[in-house]
Amino acid sequence: PEHRPLYGKHVLITAGPTHEPIDPVRYIANRSSGRQGFAIAAAAANAGARVTLVAGPVTLATPHGVDRIDVESAREMDAAVKNALPVDVAIMVAAVADWRTRDFIAEKMKKRGSAPPALRLMENPDILASVAAGTKRPGLLIGFAAETQDVLENAKMKRKRKGVDWIVANDVSGDVMGGDRNRVNIVTEAGVETLDDMPKADVARALIERVADALADKVND
Ligand code: C5P
Repeated sequence: PEHRPLYGKHVLITAGPTHEPIDPVRYIANRSSGRQGFAIAAAAANAGARVTLVAGPVTLATPHGVDRIDVESAREMDAAVKNALPVDVAIMVAAVADWRTRDFIAEKMKKRGSAPPALRLMENPDILASVAAGTKRPGLLIGFAAETQDVLENAKMKRKRKGVDWIVANDVSGDVMGGDRNRVNIVTEAGVETLDDMPKADVARALIERVADALADKVND
């Protein structure tokens, strides 16, 4: 039916940051409130989808009708995502930390007396790229890109490099982080659609509308 366009579809969404522990009290993270990802989960559930939301550490309430799996680190997020596959659509909104420390320190590091510690970092798994390359790749795979410069050029390159269908790109040089509003560009094979600046809930509804249209087009092919 028209008002439940994603009925019967399983949509996987990642949201929020990941925390990469340094010692029991410290971590590395990217800035992310999780609000845009949670809004997309709510919009997908409203559209009738079964929604699995893999959430990093955020303080947001679970949207109605959404199955939420809480994780802390990128490796935990990776495992939860792989465990949720196969799905019809995956929308990876999480701001995954690119690096974690090589060695977790089991006891709280003391600052007294010693020089500041050097952190040795190593790369985290790229969850989106590995889902794109995997055997259970969703029929529609969407990544996000937060950039502070050359937003569209970077998004177009990222779409190809990661092997995803769409990249939703936003300019985070302003006050998007943690805020209520967002202005995004949806980069697909066909081109770029730039949406107006609007509340994150409206961005979410617009994106889910386009997801529903894309799935309907596939069925009618
Ligand atoms: O490469 P970059 O971090 O800019 O890519 C952003 C996109 O890739 C987002 O969709 C994000 O959720 C996803 N990503 C991921 N795993 C990573 C890094 C990014 O899934 N380790």
